[in-house]
Amino acid sequence: THAGALAGHHVVITAGPTREAIDPVRYLSNHSSGKMGFALASAARDMGARVTLIAGPVTLATPEGITRINVICAVEMLEAVNAALPDCDIFIGCAAVADYRLADIAEHKLKKVPGSAALTLNLIENPDIIASVTDRECPPFTVGFAAETRELARHAHDKLVRKRLDLIVANDVAAPGLGFGADDNAAVLYHLEPDQPEVPVTSHTLSPRAKQDLASAILVYMLP
Ligand code: C5P
Repeated sequence: THAGALAGHHVVITAGPTREAIDPVRYLSNHSSGKMGFALASAARDMGARVTLIAGPVTLATPEGITRINVICAVEMLEAVNAALPDCDIFIGCAAVADYRLADIAEHKLKKVPGSAALTLNLIENPDIIASVTDRECPPFTVGFAAETRELARHAHDKLVRKRLDLIVANDVAAPGLGFGADDNAAVLYHLEPDQPEVPVTSHTLSPRAKQDLASAILVYMLP
């Protein structure tokens, strides 16, 4: 029904986790599978878009007909986004970017210190990739994701405003069988009403369904 709706548009999507090295053999990361971002990439392609998928370390096959750029850590993901952005019409930040990285990556494998019961790692903040996109002079239509375990609406609204997003897709990752790693997902979409400051936020609830079907349903809210 929406075939060709994104023809002539460049959609840039980040997906998956980032991996922040601790030493040559260890890292900090999270449970993001990348499935939702990859499903969005296929759905956007099916609507006629040119798609650039910037993927953290995941084991998923590259959807046909899209450009995939593999990255490992948040700083690399930011560089790939900056390179893809100049002609981007829609940016979807689906990646679960690590909020922090190691202040110093050890050159050699850290050794267990006999007799010491605790280890302290020094972390520094990673760049906020999606906020750097909306910070540009002519930002694309920008969509964020929010994985929450509680107070979906409040956190989503907070992120919409703080990161200057056009749309946010909130997932309840505490719901059994949905979210991280699962094949099914549900979502609540939030956006602000332009010129209606008295209306705080508008929401649309998408019931649980296969991530591929959810991706197509979400994209309908981004159509130009
Ligand atoms: O603040 P939080 O990480 O929950 O926000 C989630 C949204 O922000 C997602 O769209 C995610 O891709 C994006 N994000 C980002 N760079 C970060 C952290 C989050 O682009 N460093």
